[in-house]
Formats: sequence, structure tokens, C-alpha cells
Amino acid sequence: MHLKDKVALVTGAAQGIGKAFAQALLEKGCKVALLDLNAELGKESKDAFDNQFDAQRTIFIPCDVSNEEKLKDAFKKVDIHFGKLDIVVNNAGVNNEKNWEITIQINLISVIRGTYIGLEYMKTQNGRNGGVIVNVASLAGLMPAAFQPVYCASKHGVVGFTRSVAMVAAIANYGVRINTICPAFVNTSILQSIEKEENMGPYVGYKEEIKDMMKFYGVLDPTLIAKGLIQILEDDSLNGTVMKITTNQGIHFHDYNPVPFQTEKQ
Ligand SMILES: NC(=O)c1ccc[n+]([C@@H]2O[C@H](COP(=O)([O-])OP(=O)(O)OC[C@H]3O[C@@H](n4cnc5c(N)ncnc54)[C@H](O)[C@@H]3O)[C@@H](O)[C@H]2O)c1
Repeated sequence: MHLKDKVALVTGAAQGIGKAFAQALLEKGCKVALLDLNAELGKESKDAFDNQFDAQRTIFIPCDVSNEEKLKDAFKKVDIHFGKLDIVVNNAGVNNEKNWEITIQINLISVIRGTYIGLEYMKTQNGRNGGVIVNVASLAGLMPAAFQPVYCASKHGVVGFTRSVAMVAAIANYGVRINTICPAFVNTSILQSIEKEENMGPYVGYKEEIKDMMKFYGVLDPTLIAKGLIQILEDDSLNGTVMKITTNQGIHFHDYNPVPFQTEKQ
């Protein structure tokens, strides 16, 4: 996909990886809708982008992605405001092992919902121009994470859902490519959640073990994850892929054995 003048919707865009995604998309000439629960940080991010780019190229929409109506409204607003939708990045996520149901709700259910709503606005069967959806999982979507079992389950769900719906998209000719990004640890505020009982619940006593894992794996800069996003968006051959981003191997793809009837490139 040639990115200039494309319209992208990014969830969780007020800070961290989502903000880095928005920055990279704006640098490529996209128009970007920034969705986030945190209205204060969202407005701050929009102001910061307005100092670098034409203010018309971004819109901030306060939105809790776990609220079905609010999420649908936000997509509608973006479509009306910019006149189309080309790219959806389902990025918003939390780490909460105490109120673990919200982790499934935000990290998995809302990603599924964001994908299905995105398809309605982009698939060619609806008279739309096609597009790309990128769902943010984690390396914890491919391997166990001892002190974050529910986070790990939510991210495994994102990987399985995204690979599967990408196959449907290819078979049914939606004109929409759908891929997953699985980063290792990234330097964002979510990492601070490992210190807090309200996030870690029964596992809060294991923060030193998690810090040791961070030392072992290293901590990535969000700009590298944004580089991975741009690679997926620009390479029209990628559908159903699982991009891994780690300190020792950088941006690379997870290998899977071919499955029968597979139509996507791995
Ligand atoms: N930082 C890491 O180490 C890491 C590693 C792998 C994957 N990820 C994933 O990357 C994504 C982005 O995380 P991050 O590291 O930038 O964290 P972050 O905490 O810096 O940013 C997450 C953003 O999502 C927003 N958000 C949370 N719940 C929301 C909701 N219900 N509705 C709308 N917005 C909501 C937050 O307000 C925040 O702005 C998440 O899906 C996370 O699981 C992070």
C-alpha cells in the first residue's frame, strides 16, 4: 500500500507504541484518527502532532474500545470526518491479572470487534476500497508468560484470531490484508504495571523475576515497532503473517508449517 493520503485509525494512540505508530504514519503522509480512553493524554498527543504536521491530518476521539457502541461511533466519526478508512491498527491493551476479565475484554474482544468493524468499512463487498488491519499481540502471544497468564491468553487469542480471519479475508476476496505484530518488551508505561498490586494481583510478588526477564530479553524502543508496522502496511504480499520484534533478531517473521487450504503468504 502506498501510504500517502491514506486514512488510519489507531487505538491506544495517546502514548507508547500507539503514539509511535501515529507518528510514523503521519511521517508517511497519512491522516490519522487517534483513539484512546485517556482524553487528557490524547489531547496532548494531538497538540504535539499539530506542532509537527498540519492539524487537519489528525483527529483525537476519546473512546473506550471495550464499549461496543463507543467503538462503532468512533469508526463512523472517522469515516465521516476523513471520508474513508484504509488502515486499522487495533493496538490498545492493558496488563491486568487482578481484574483479569478486563484484560480479555480489552486485549482480545475489542481487537476482534475492531477487526470486524474495520472490515465493514473497508471490504470491497461493501463498495469500499480494501485496506489493511494490524492487530497488536505480543511475544506472549507465542510463548508462555509465567506471571501474566491471562495477558498471555489474550495475546494468544489475538494471534489465532488474526491468522484465521486473514485466511477468510483472502478466500472471500475482501481486499483487506490482516496481520499481527508481536513485540518483546517495549519501553512504555505498561511496563510500570508490573510493580502494582492493582495490576498484578496474586503475581505482584514476582516483579523482580519479570525485571530479570526484561534484562534477559532487553527493552525495545517504540519506534522499532512503528518501523515494523510500516513494513507490513507497505508490503502488499503480507497477509496472515505474525511479525516478531526482538532485541537480538530485530524485525522478523514467525515461521509456521503450511496448513491445508492456506491462501495467505507466510
Ligand atoms: N510495552 C510492551 O512491553 C509491549 C510488548 C508487547 C506488546 N505490547 C502491546 O502493545 C500495545 C500498546 O501498549 P503500550 O506498551 O504502548 O502501552 P501503554 O500503556 O503505553 O499504551 C496503551 C494505551 O492504550 C490505552 N488504552 C487502554 N485501555 C483502553 C481502552 N479500553 N480503550 C481505549 N484505549 C485504551 C491507554 O490509555 C494507553 O494510552 C498493547 O496491546 C500491549 O499489550 C506492549
